[in-house]
Amino acid sequence: MRGLRALLGLGLLVGGARLAVRADTCLRTAGVGSAQCRKYRAGGAMEGGPKFLSQAEAQAVDEELFNEYKFSVDQLMELAGLSCATAIAKAYPVSSFTSNLPTVLVVCGPGNNGGDGLVCARHLKLFGYEPAIFYPKRPNKSLFENLTTQCQKMDIPFLSEFPQEAEVIDGAYNLVVDAIFGFSFKGAVREPFGTILSTLKHITIPIASVDIPSGWDVEKGNPDGIQPDMLISLTAPKQSAVHFSGRYHYLGGRFVPKALEKKYNLNLPTYPDTECVRKLP
Ligand SMILES: NC(=O)c1ccc[n+]([C@@H]2O[C@H](COP(=O)([O-])OP(=O)(O)OC[C@H]3O[C@@H](n4cnc5c(N)ncnc54)[C@H](OP(=O)(O)O)[C@@H]3O)[C@@H](O)[C@H]2O)c1
Repeated sequence: MRGLRALLGLGLLVGGARLAVRADTCLRTAGVGSAQCRKYRAGGAMEGGPKFLSQAEAQAVDEELFNEYKFSVDQLMELAGLSCATAIAKAYPVSSFTSNLPTVLVVCGPGNNGGDGLVCARHLKLFGYEPAIFYPKRPNKSLFENLTTQCQKMDIPFLSEFPQEAEVIDGAYNLVVDAIFGFSFKGAVREPFGTILSTLKHITIPIASVDIPSGWDVEKGNPDGIQPDMLISLTAPKQSAVHFSGRYHYLGGRFVPKALEKKYNLNLPTYPDTECVRKLP
Protein backbone atom coordinates (compact mmCIF):
# COMPACT_ATOMS: atom_id res chain seq x y z
CA MET A 1 0.00 0.00 0.00
CA ARG A 2 2.80 2.40 0.96
CA GLY A 3 4.52 1.45 -2.26
CA LEU A 4 1.34 2.17 -4.19
CA ARG A 5 0.93 5.57 -2.47
CA ALA A 6 4.53 6.40 -3.18
CA LEU A 7 3.97 5.47 -6.81
CA LEU A 8 0.81 7.61 -6.99
CA GLY A 9 2.61 10.51 -5.33
CA LEU A 10 5.39 10.19 -7.84
CA GLY A 11 2.83 10.08 -10.65
CA LEU A 12 1.23 13.29 -9.41
CA LEU A 13 4.56 14.99 -9.10
CA VAL A 14 5.59 14.01 -12.61
CA GLY A 15 2.17 15.03 -14.00
CA GLY A 16 2.24 18.37 -12.18
CA ALA A 17 5.75 19.08 -13.38
CA ARG A 18 4.75 18.31 -16.98
CA LEU A 19 1.79 20.70 -16.82
CA ALA A 20 3.91 23.43 -15.26
CA VAL A 21 6.48 22.98 -18.01
CA ARG A 22 3.76 23.21 -20.67
CA ALA A 23 2.52 26.54 -19.31
CA ASP A 24 6.05 27.84 -18.97
CA THR A 25 7.06 26.65 -22.45
CA CYS A 26 3.96 28.31 -23.88
CA LEU A 27 4.89 31.61 -22.26
CA ARG A 28 8.41 31.46 -23.65
CA THR A 29 7.74 30.11 -27.11
CA ALA A 30 4.28 31.36 -28.09
CA GLY A 31 4.42 34.69 -26.26
CA VAL A 32 2.51 35.94 -23.32
CA GLY A 33 -0.52 37.23 -25.21
CA SER A 34 -0.95 34.37 -27.64
CA ALA A 35 -4.18 32.43 -27.88
CA GLN A 36 -2.22 29.31 -26.98
CA CYS A 37 -1.07 30.92 -23.74
CA ARG A 38 -4.45 32.36 -22.95
CA LYS A 39 -5.73 28.81 -22.78
CA TYR A 40 -3.40 28.31 -19.84
CA ARG A 41 -3.81 31.69 -18.24
CA ALA A 42 -7.50 32.54 -18.28
CA GLY A 43 -10.85 30.96 -17.71
CA GLY A 44 -9.82 28.58 -14.99
CA ALA A 45 -6.92 27.67 -12.82
CA MET A 46 -3.95 27.67 -15.16
CA GLU A 47 -1.95 24.52 -14.94
CA GLY A 48 1.13 25.47 -12.95
CA GLY A 49 0.03 29.06 -12.35
CA PRO A 50 -2.62 31.23 -10.73
CA LYS A 51 -6.13 31.72 -12.07
CA PHE A 52 -6.69 34.98 -13.91
CA LEU A 53 -9.91 36.49 -12.55
CA SER A 54 -12.82 38.09 -14.37
CA GLN A 55 -14.06 41.44 -13.04
CA ALA A 56 -17.03 39.75 -11.35
CA GLU A 57 -14.78 37.17 -9.68
CA ALA A 58 -12.38 39.87 -8.42
CA GLN A 59 -15.31 41.77 -6.93
CA ALA A 60 -16.77 38.60 -5.39
CA VAL A 61 -13.45 37.71 -3.71
CA ASP A 62 -13.22 41.30 -2.48
CA GLU A 63 -16.71 41.22 -0.98
CA GLU A 64 -16.10 37.88 0.66
CA LEU A 65 -12.88 39.09 2.27
CA PHE A 66 -14.83 41.93 3.88
CA ASN A 67 -18.20 40.33 4.58
CA GLU A 68 -17.39 36.72 5.42
CA TYR A 69 -13.79 36.93 6.61
CA LYS A 70 -14.27 40.26 8.38
CA PHE A 71 -11.17 42.00 7.13
CA SER A 72 -11.33 45.78 7.16
CA VAL A 73 -10.46 47.88 4.12
CA ASP A 74 -7.62 49.55 6.04
CA GLN A 75 -6.03 46.17 6.80
CA LEU A 76 -6.01 44.92 3.22
CA MET A 77 -5.03 48.32 1.84
CA GLU A 78 -1.99 48.43 4.12
CA LEU A 79 -0.88 44.96 3.02
CA ALA A 80 -1.59 45.73 -0.65
CA GLY A 81 0.30 49.03 -0.55
CA LEU A 82 3.22 47.43 1.27
CA SER A 83 3.30 44.69 -1.39
CA CYS A 84 3.45 47.32 -4.12
CA ALA A 85 6.30 49.24 -2.50
CA THR A 86 8.19 46.00 -1.84
CA ALA A 87 7.81 44.80 -5.43
CA ILE A 88 8.93 48.21 -6.72
CA ALA A 89 11.99 48.13 -4.45
CA LYS A 90 12.89 44.71 -5.86
CA ALA A 91 12.48 45.68 -9.51
CA TYR A 92 13.82 49.25 -9.28
CA PRO A 93 16.20 49.47 -6.31
CA VAL A 94 17.16 53.01 -5.31
CA SER A 95 20.70 52.23 -6.49
CA SER A 96 19.43 51.55 -10.05
CA PHE A 97 18.26 55.14 -10.52
CA THR A 98 20.79 57.34 -12.25
CA SER A 99 19.46 60.69 -10.99
CA ASN A 100 20.62 62.22 -7.70
CA LEU A 101 17.26 61.82 -6.02
CA PRO A 102 15.25 58.56 -6.25
CA THR A 103 12.09 60.44 -7.19
CA VAL A 104 8.84 58.58 -7.91
CA LEU A 105 5.51 60.07 -8.99
CA VAL A 106 2.52 58.24 -7.50
CA VAL A 107 -0.76 59.00 -9.27
CA CYS A 108 -3.78 58.07 -7.15
CA GLY A 109 -7.36 57.56 -8.29
CA PRO A 110 -10.62 58.03 -6.39
CA GLY A 111 -11.17 54.45 -5.14
CA ASN A 112 -9.32 51.79 -3.18
CA ASN A 113 -6.70 51.47 -5.92
CA GLY A 114 -5.81 55.09 -5.14
CA GLY A 115 -5.68 54.18 -1.43
CA ASP A 116 -3.19 51.42 -2.25
CA GLY A 117 -1.15 54.10 -3.99
CA LEU A 118 -1.12 56.33 -0.89
CA VAL A 119 0.06 53.43 1.28
CA CYS A 120 2.63 52.48 -1.35
CA ALA A 121 3.98 56.06 -1.38
CA ARG A 122 4.36 56.03 2.42
CA HIS A 123 6.32 52.76 2.33
CA LEU A 124 8.43 53.94 -0.61
CA LYS A 125 9.43 56.94 1.49
CA LEU A 126 10.41 54.61 4.35
CA PHE A 127 12.44 52.55 1.86
CA GLY A 128 14.52 55.61 0.87
CA TYR A 129 12.65 56.84 -2.24
CA GLU A 130 11.44 60.41 -2.74
CA PRO A 131 7.78 59.99 -3.73
CA ALA A 132 5.46 62.82 -4.76
CA ILE A 133 1.72 62.25 -5.07
CA PHE A 134 -0.91 63.51 -7.47
CA TYR A 135 -4.36 62.89 -5.99
CA PRO A 136 -6.93 64.95 -7.86
CA LYS A 137 -10.22 63.35 -6.74
CA ARG A 138 -10.28 62.66 -3.02
CA PRO A 139 -13.20 60.80 -1.45
CA ASN A 140 -14.76 62.37 1.58
CA LYS A 141 -14.00 59.40 3.85
CA SER A 142 -11.83 59.24 6.96
CA LEU A 143 -9.80 56.30 5.59
CA PHE A 144 -8.50 58.35 2.66
CA GLU A 145 -8.19 61.55 4.68
CA ASN A 146 -6.06 59.73 7.25
CA LEU A 147 -3.83 58.17 4.58
CA THR A 148 -3.39 61.63 3.05
CA THR A 149 -2.45 63.16 6.41
CA GLN A 150 0.05 60.35 7.07
CA CYS A 151 1.78 61.09 3.77
CA GLN A 152 1.74 64.85 4.37
CA LYS A 153 3.25 64.38 7.82
CA MET A 154 5.99 62.29 6.27
CA ASP A 155 6.89 65.23 4.02
CA ILE A 156 5.61 63.60 0.87
CA PRO A 157 4.57 66.47 -1.41
CA PHE A 158 1.17 66.51 -3.12
CA LEU A 159 1.24 68.13 -6.56
CA SER A 160 -1.47 70.72 -7.13
CA GLU A 161 -1.41 70.17 -10.89
CA PHE A 162 -0.48 67.31 -13.15
CA PRO A 163 2.45 68.12 -15.47
CA GLN A 164 1.04 68.62 -18.96
CA GLU A 165 4.20 67.62 -20.78
CA ALA A 166 5.49 64.07 -20.76
CA GLU A 167 9.04 65.48 -20.90
CA VAL A 168 8.53 67.27 -17.57
CA ILE A 169 7.65 63.95 -15.90
CA ASP A 170 10.60 62.23 -17.60
CA GLY A 171 12.93 64.97 -16.34
CA ALA A 172 11.68 65.11 -12.76
CA TYR A 173 11.01 61.48 -11.91
CA ASN A 174 12.51 58.01 -12.31
CA LEU A 175 9.29 56.01 -12.13
CA VAL A 176 5.52 56.55 -12.16
CA VAL A 177 3.28 54.45 -9.93
CA ASP A 178 -0.13 54.14 -11.58
CA ALA A 179 -2.70 53.70 -8.79
CA ILE A 180 -5.58 55.33 -10.65
CA PHE A 181 -8.05 52.52 -11.35
CA GLY A 182 -8.24 48.91 -10.24
CA PHE A 183 -10.76 46.14 -10.76
CA SER A 184 -13.85 48.39 -10.51
CA PHE A 185 -12.93 50.44 -13.59
CA LYS A 186 -15.66 50.53 -16.26
CA GLY A 187 -16.47 52.38 -19.45
CA ALA A 188 -14.74 55.33 -21.06
CA VAL A 189 -12.25 57.19 -18.87
CA ARG A 190 -13.71 60.36 -17.35
CA GLU A 191 -11.76 63.55 -16.67
CA PRO A 192 -9.39 64.48 -15.19
CA PHE A 193 -8.04 60.98 -15.66
CA GLY A 194 -8.36 60.94 -19.47
CA THR A 195 -5.86 63.78 -19.81
CA ILE A 196 -3.55 62.25 -17.19
CA LEU A 197 -3.52 58.87 -18.96
CA SER A 198 -2.92 60.54 -22.35
CA THR A 199 0.18 62.22 -20.90
CA LEU A 200 1.35 59.00 -19.25
CA LYS A 201 1.16 57.26 -22.65
CA HIS A 202 3.99 59.48 -23.84
CA ILE A 203 6.44 59.27 -20.94
CA THR A 204 9.60 57.21 -21.38
CA ILE A 205 10.31 56.43 -17.72
CA PRO A 206 8.80 53.15 -16.53
CA ILE A 207 5.27 52.85 -15.17
CA ALA A 208 4.44 50.42 -12.36
CA SER A 209 0.70 49.70 -12.34
CA VAL A 210 -1.15 48.66 -9.21
CA ASP A 211 -3.45 45.68 -9.87
CA ILE A 212 -4.65 46.80 -13.35
CA PRO A 213 -2.99 49.16 -15.83
CA SER A 214 -5.32 52.17 -15.59
CA GLY A 215 -7.62 52.65 -18.54
CA TRP A 216 -7.48 48.94 -19.36
CA ASP A 217 -10.65 46.89 -19.48
CA VAL A 218 -10.27 44.56 -16.48
CA GLU A 219 -10.73 41.52 -18.72
CA LYS A 220 -9.77 42.58 -22.23
CA GLY A 221 -6.92 45.04 -21.61
CA ASN A 222 -6.39 48.03 -23.89
CA PRO A 223 -3.85 47.90 -26.73
CA ASP A 224 -4.09 51.70 -27.12
CA GLY A 225 -3.64 52.42 -23.43
CA ILE A 226 -0.57 52.87 -21.25
CA GLN A 227 1.88 49.98 -21.44
CA PRO A 228 3.43 49.61 -18.00
CA ASP A 229 6.84 48.10 -17.40
CA MET A 230 5.61 46.56 -14.17
CA LEU A 231 2.31 45.11 -12.98
CA ILE A 232 1.66 44.24 -9.36
CA SER A 233 -1.39 41.97 -9.32
CA LEU A 234 -3.10 42.00 -5.93
CA THR A 235 -4.74 38.91 -4.43
CA ALA A 236 -4.76 37.19 -7.86
CA PRO A 237 -4.09 38.42 -11.42
CA LYS A 238 -7.06 39.65 -13.43
CA GLN A 239 -7.74 38.49 -16.98
CA SER A 240 -6.29 41.65 -18.56
CA ALA A 241 -2.87 40.62 -17.19
CA VAL A 242 -2.65 38.23 -20.17
CA HIS A 243 -1.96 41.33 -22.27
CA PHE A 244 0.74 42.70 -19.99
CA SER A 245 4.03 42.75 -21.87
CA GLY A 246 6.27 44.66 -19.44
CA ARG A 247 9.34 43.26 -17.72
CA TYR A 248 8.05 42.71 -14.19
CA HIS A 249 4.88 40.95 -13.13
CA TYR A 250 4.56 40.50 -9.38
CA LEU A 251 1.84 39.02 -7.23
CA GLY A 252 1.17 40.73 -3.89
CA GLY A 253 -1.49 40.80 -1.21
CA ARG A 254 -0.49 37.73 0.74
CA PHE A 255 -3.62 37.67 2.85
CA VAL A 256 -5.94 35.20 1.14
CA PRO A 257 -7.20 32.49 3.52
CA LYS A 258 -6.76 28.96 2.14
CA ALA A 259 -10.52 28.23 2.17
CA LEU A 260 -11.20 31.31 0.03
CA GLU A 261 -8.40 30.38 -2.34
CA LYS A 262 -9.94 26.92 -2.72
CA LYS A 263 -13.49 28.20 -3.18
CA TYR A 264 -12.45 30.39 -6.12
CA ASN A 265 -9.92 27.88 -7.41
CA LEU A 266 -7.28 30.65 -7.33
CA ASN A 267 -4.35 28.24 -7.49
CA LEU A 268 -2.06 30.87 -5.98
CA PRO A 269 1.66 30.19 -6.06
CA THR A 270 3.50 29.93 -2.77
CA TYR A 271 5.33 33.01 -1.58
CA PRO A 272 9.00 32.59 -0.69
CA ASP A 273 9.43 32.27 3.12
CA THR A 274 8.17 35.52 4.70
CA GLU A 275 8.00 37.60 1.48
CA CYS A 276 4.83 39.60 0.77
CA VAL A 277 5.38 39.51 -3.00
CA ARG A 278 6.36 36.96 -5.57
CA LYS A 279 7.55 37.42 -9.13
CA LEU A 280 5.40 35.72 -11.76
CA PRO A 281 6.69 34.44 -15.10
N1 LIG B 1 -10.30 43.50 -1.41
C1 LIG B 1 -9.42 43.13 -2.25
O1 LIG B 1 -9.44 42.03 -2.75
C2 LIG B 1 -8.36 44.08 -2.50
C3 LIG B 1 -7.19 43.72 -2.00
C4 LIG B 1 -6.16 44.54 -2.25
C5 LIG B 1 -6.32 45.70 -2.95
N2 LIG B 1 -7.51 46.09 -3.42
C6 LIG B 1 -7.55 47.30 -4.24
O2 LIG B 1 -8.82 47.83 -4.46
C7 LIG B 1 -9.01 48.01 -5.85
C8 LIG B 1 -10.46 48.07 -6.19
O3 LIG B 1 -10.94 49.22 -5.53
P1 LIG B 1 -12.37 49.87 -5.82
O4 LIG B 1 -13.39 48.79 -5.89
O5 LIG B 1 -12.53 50.97 -4.86
O6 LIG B 1 -12.28 50.43 -7.26
P2 LIG B 1 -11.19 51.19 -8.13
O7 LIG B 1 -10.79 50.24 -9.17
O8 LIG B 1 -10.17 51.83 -7.26
O9 LIG B 1 -12.04 52.30 -8.84
C9 LIG B 1 -13.21 52.87 -8.32
C10 LIG B 1 -13.21 54.33 -8.61
O10 LIG B 1 -12.89 54.55 -9.98
C11 LIG B 1 -13.84 55.40 -10.57
N3 LIG B 1 -14.06 55.00 -11.95
C12 LIG B 1 -14.46 53.80 -12.42
N4 LIG B 1 -14.53 53.81 -13.76
C13 LIG B 1 -14.18 55.06 -14.15
C14 LIG B 1 -14.07 55.71 -15.41
N5 LIG B 1 -14.36 55.08 -16.54
N6 LIG B 1 -13.64 57.00 -15.43
C15 LIG B 1 -13.36 57.66 -14.30
N7 LIG B 1 -13.49 57.12 -13.07
C16 LIG B 1 -13.88 55.83 -13.00
C17 LIG B 1 -15.09 55.25 -9.76
O11 LIG B 1 -15.78 56.46 -9.85
P3 LIG B 1 -17.33 56.51 -9.56
O12 LIG B 1 -17.46 56.31 -8.09
O13 LIG B 1 -17.67 57.89 -10.01
O14 LIG B 1 -17.96 55.43 -10.36
C18 LIG B 1 -14.54 54.97 -8.36
O15 LIG B 1 -14.32 56.19 -7.68
C19 LIG B 1 -8.23 46.86 -6.44
O16 LIG B 1 -7.98 46.98 -7.82
C20 LIG B 1 -7.01 46.92 -5.59
O17 LIG B 1 -6.13 47.93 -6.03
C21 LIG B 1 -8.56 45.29 -3.19
